[in-house]
Amino acid sequence: MRQVPAYLLLGSGRVARHFQRYFDLLQIPYKTWSRRDPQAPSLEALSETASPILLLLSDPAIAGFIEEYPFLQGKKLVHFSGSLSLPGVYAAHPLMSAAAGLLDLAGYQKIPFFLAKDSPDLAELLPGLPNPSYRLPPQERAYYHALCVLSGNFTVLLWQKIFQEFEARFQVPKEGAYPYLQQVLGNLMENPQQALTGPLVRKDHSAIAAHLAALENDPFQGVYQAFVDAYRRLTP
Ligand SMILES: NC(=O)c1ccc[n+]([C@@H]2O[C@H](COP(=O)([O-])OP(=O)(O)OC[C@H]3O[C@@H](n4cnc5c(N)ncnc54)[C@H](OP(=O)(O)O)[C@@H]3O)[C@@H](O)[C@H]2O)c1
Repeated sequence: MRQVPAYLLLGSGRVARHFQRYFDLLQIPYKTWSRRDPQAPSLEALSETASPILLLLSDPAIAGFIEEYPFLQGKKLVHFSGSLSLPGVYAAHPLMSAAAGLLDLAGYQKIPFFLAKDSPDLAELLPGLPNPSYRLPPQERAYYHALCVLSGNFTVLLWQKIFQEFEARFQVPKEGAYPYLQQVLGNLMENPQQALTGPLVRKDHSAIAAHLAALENDPFQGVYQAFVDAYRRLTP
C-alpha cells in the first residue's frame, strides 16, 4: 500500500498560502505551523511524525531556524529558496511568482521545481506533486536565481512604472497598456528570437538619446542606459 506523506508546512507567508491551496486541490493531507499561530501544537510535537517538513520561511531565517529548533536536524527538510544551499536541507525551488492571487489546480501543476543535481527525484522529495522538475549544479544556483529575478521581478518594476506614469502623468488607465503587455508576452512565447522591437534593434541612436534625455532625473534613466549597454555587449 502506498504510504501517505505526512507533510508539515512551516510559515504562513505567500508561498505557504499557495502550497496549502495546492495541497487542498490535490487532496494531500498536511499540517501547518507558524509562529503567528498561538493555538498551533508545539513544533517539536508536530515534527515528530512529519516527513517531509517544508521550510516555507524567509530565506535569511532558514539556517537560524534549524539551529533554534535542533530536533529538526536529521529530519527530511526541504526549503523552497532559489538561492540558498544549506547542509542537511533539500532545495526545491518552485519557479513561480507567489503574489496574492491563488491559482487553480492546472496553474499549480505547471510550476516547475528546480532541484539540486544530487537531489532525490521530485516524486521522492515531494510525494504526490505531479510537477515537472529540473536539476541545477550547486555552483549555478546563484546565476539561475539571478536570471529568475531579472526576468520575473525586474520586469514587474518596469510594468508598474508604465502603469503608474500612464495614470499619473497622462491620465490614461493602466488598462490602456494591457494590449501592449499581452502582445509583448505573446511575441516572446511565440518566437523569442524575433520578439524584440524598437530603437535598440533598429539601432536608432537619436531616439535612444531623446529617451535618455526625457528620463533625466527619473530613477529609470540608469535602467534604460544599462539595457542599452547590455544590448551593445550582446550584439557588438
Ligand atoms: N514569493 C515568491 O514568489 C517565491 C517564489 C519561489 C520561492 N520562494 C521561496 O519561498 C520561501 C518563502 O517565501 P515567501 O515569499 O512565502 O515569504 P514571506 O511571504 O515573506 O513569508 C515568510 C514566512 O516566514 C516566516 N518567518 C520569517 N522569519 C521567521 C522566523 N525566524 N521564525 C519563524 N518564522 C519565520 C514569516 O513569519 P511572520 O509572518 O511571522 O514574519 C512568514 O510566515 C522563501 O524561501 C522564498 O525564497 C518565494
